Amino acid sequence: MFEHLKEQPKDKILALMQTYRDDPRDTKIDLGVGVYKNPQGVTPIMRAVKEAERRWWDDETTKAYTGLAGDPAFADAMIALVLGDAVPRDQVAAVATPGGTGAVRQAFELVKMANPQVRVFVSDPTWPNHLSILKHLGMETVAYRYFDESSGGVDFEGMIEDLGQVRAGDVVLLHGCCHNPTGANLNMVQFRAVIDLMNDKGATPMIDIAYQGFGDGLEADAAATRAVAAGCPETLIAASCSKNFGIYRERTGLLMAVAQDKGMHAVTQGNLAYLNRQNYSFPPDHGARLVSIVLGNDDLRADWQTELEEVRTGMLALREQLASELQRLSGSDRFGFVAQHRGMFSRLGIAPELVDRLRDEHAIYMVGDSRINIAGLNKETVPVLARAIIDVGA
Ligand code: LMR
Repeated sequence: MFEHLKEQPKDKILALMQTYRDDPRDTKIDLGVGVYKNPQGVTPIMRAVKEAERRWWDDETTKAYTGLAGDPAFADAMIALVLGDAVPRDQVAAVATPGGTGAVRQAFELVKMANPQVRVFVSDPTWPNHLSILKHLGMETVAYRYFDESSGGVDFEGMIEDLGQVRAGDVVLLHGCCHNPTGANLNMVQFRAVIDLMNDKGATPMIDIAYQGFGDGLEADAAATRAVAAGCPETLIAASCSKNFGIYRERTGLLMAVAQDKGMHAVTQGNLAYLNRQNYSFPPDHGARLVSIVLGNDDLRADWQTELEEVRTGMLALREQLASELQRLSGSDRFGFVAQHRGMFSRLGIAPELVDRLRDEHAIYMVGDSRINIAGLNKETVPVLARAIIDVGA
């Protein structure tokens, strides 16, 4: 049987991680996978998370199964974090999932169950795994213009024009904040125009929010998601705790399905629980438990927010430094967008051959589309990167 299996294409981001690990050069710089690193290059366990773990060690009395939707306290805490009071709690069906990827996967499956003919509109570019999962599920995707290579910003006119093809029953996938891979984001006026367009067309928005707190702050980063959830009849939201709680390997995410029609709640909740049961039964609990402990305790929550804010402002400072270093070396403002972008990533817009040369000649690793992870830098390596970019002729 196994002889009938075909080789699968390698995930570019994960393949890059391996090439980096195998590189013996001690000057190498990893700007690849989206994992936060402090200036010492370490992905730390956040203080509040570690403390929650200590408390849970004492308090945990059983390892028996949770419910199919996971621990209700986790859903409540995350819904409040992401949605604030944008929609009443009883309009949100939710299940815990293994990471944000699990939430994305379950959302696509739910959409496919509801409308097998659905087309999912995705930004060009988007996180490669969105496309890979959609392909795996045999779902049709339509790309909409998003990134303006020349300015490093959003091609909003192109986006609106392309979304003009959306039909009733289609899904429009949006990044709630900190667009991956570009770092370029819609402002709220633009988001509202997209909401109006989706409502006019009868399309359902799906929001992937994996970096809340990494852009302009916890509340500001949730503003677009809240506006969509309050402004559209139905919204799907895939939220990840991997980055903002730094619990990557615990696989902690939440899928939310918001409906203005309260009558939809029970059937949607039942379908989400059904999907969990089909795919893995009960979602992982440990990371979810840590998140609800942190969010449910004033002291831990305050400490978590302080640390998250340090992470965010640290990345902003690196953006500013890189933009000004590139300005100085190139004598132009063409990389000024790096300081305007938000979140962990920026797409530099440099050719794939130059990305290869940066890796081969300078031991600097970035994704082939020239996406860099800002958190892979520190004050000392920013000038090294800037010089290398200019050196290869970008
Ligand atoms: C990334 O985009 O690098 C992260 O979301 C990690 C991943 O799973 O690809």
